Amino acid sequence: MARKKIGLIGAGNIGGELANQIVEKQLGDVVLVDIPEKEGVAKGKALDIMQNSALIGKDASCIGTSNWQDVAGADVIIVTAGIPRKPGQSRDDLVGVNVGIIRTVADNAKKYCPNAFAIIVANPLDAMVFEFHRRSGFDKSKVCGMAGMLDSARFQYFLADAANVSVKDVRTMVLGGHGDDMVPISSMCTINAVPASELVASDKMAAIIQRVRGGGGEIVKLMGTSAYYAPASAAIQMAESFLFDQKRLMPCAAYLTGQYGYKDMFIGVPIIIGASGVEKVIEVPLTVDETAALKKSAEAVMTVVDIVKKTP
Ligand code: LAC
Repeated sequence: MARKKIGLIGAGNIGGELANQIVEKQLGDVVLVDIPEKEGVAKGKALDIMQNSALIGKDASCIGTSNWQDVAGADVIIVTAGIPRKPGQSRDDLVGVNVGIIRTVADNAKKYCPNAFAIIVANPLDAMVFEFHRRSGFDKSKVCGMAGMLDSARFQYFLADAANVSVKDVRTMVLGGHGDDMVPISSMCTINAVPASELVASDKMAAIIQRVRGGGGEIVKLMGTSAYYAPASAAIQMAESFLFDQKRLMPCAAYLTGQYGYKDMFIGVPIIIGASGVEKVIEVPLTVDETAALKKSAEAVMTVVDIVKKTP
């Protein structure tokens, strides 16, 4: 069986970490793409990763390029292209620059790999997924955004730390847009099926929820740019569920057609990812407060999507 082909659009910090992990896991052959001005970075990272493959003994190739022809026929693309946040910026502040970039990416994806499963990571996340989908014409089942898995991982870690339990046993779910109004669903948190409220007091839980909401910004403030290890791992879990038909249930930005009361927009909801892509959007009952929080988050996403729609 031929190896799968995975196009990584953007050779920045997340792109490089994605390439490294994909080769390490031998998920497929990697094509690391960036703009001509950054082709050297893409080629350099690819060469470093291939030399590392000799040390770790892995059979998967990785090339760096600025030529989209090299991405032709990719099974999966993961799009990180765009500028990241600087300290003090919100994800929404990036829309002006990143909308032009996502349109170019969508045009190339439509031309060179129209059958790929596209995972969007660029920010402002929910608006970038919307624009990629609109512009590329990809079926809604073949486009989703990575945010919920990352935000839920942050939630998982903070809870494990607070409860002093293994992070492996913590289950969390963060829905809504990937912004400060994201919706960590505390009613669904468990520690291996035990309600988290049994182990973490409610005031501590409230503080954790606030920390999750600002989780990306906390890292930007510390190191001057966005996180990349956890964002890469989160996108890879989504790619693996598609490549191996795992049918995992994961919170991701997916196209809604009325679920949760929203339509014609992407927002973070629980979905099943399998060999057909986004195979199902799962609707779960939310509390009154969670429903209100989701509404606020969806409205924030709509505001950014409106800016995208008005951008010529
Ligand atoms: C973050 C970026 C990747 O939340 O959106 O770290």
